[in-house]
Amino acid sequence: MKVENVELAKVIAKPNDKFPEPLHGEFAFVGRSNVGKSSLLNALIGKKVAFVSKNPGKTRTINYYLINNKFYFVDLPGYGYARASKKDREEWRKVIERYFSERTWNMKALFALIDSRHELMESDAQLLEWLEMIGISPLVVLTKIDKLSSPELSKQLKYFEEVLSGYSIRELIPCSSVKKEGLDKIWNVIIEELSK
Ligand code: GTP
Ligand code: MG
Repeated sequence: MKVENVELAKVIAKPNDKFPEPLHGEFAFVGRSNVGKSSLLNALIGKKVAFVSKNPGKTRTINYYLINNKFYFVDLPGYGYARASKKDREEWRKVIERYFSERTWNMKALFALIDSRHELMESDAQLLEWLEMIGISPLVVLTKIDKLSSPELSKQLKYFEEVLSGYSIRELIPCSSVKKEGLDKIWNVIIEELSK
């Protein structure tokens, strides 16, 4: 799909900020802080719209990017930031819980991003378990594969297939925002969902 038009349509910062009108639906991106959510959005859109930073914890709000005046990409705040205070973590949990309780009806797909280079973190497992409990099957995007050699990537893919086999995951998509790998697979899911 060609992205002809993109705008930051809505920023949800406070508990009573309203969600935007539903339009043709939304695609949400969730994952640990620094996993590459904003970078992936920019790569999919083909333009720098989301803020990317070397310092984790940059995206703290729910950002709605309106694509072609039809549907949204939703950049959710990152979790698992080691230096976050207890208050910050509590804040994150509230924002995420609000998002999932109020907006899943408009969600066409959820992309859960996990760093391809490491083992599954406790916070990732917690999110996957929670999604399982509320009946959401995410697509798992393994990010930053450009940082792995080809044998390392094979090893990690095997590892993730095994470790994620206990969860109901729609698809496993290895991806690199830098090398633009795996983006077509993500777009295929989006196009398919929008045509339903
Ligand atoms: P928060 O907003 O803090 O939750 O982080 P985020 O998940 O939005 O991550 P962001 O896109 O800001 O990227 C974090 C860091 O990882 C930045 O330094 C990016 O340049 C880098 N990065 C993101 N994607 C890739 C990738 O595919 N390959 C490589 N090599 N680096 C990446
Ligand atoms: Mg971000």
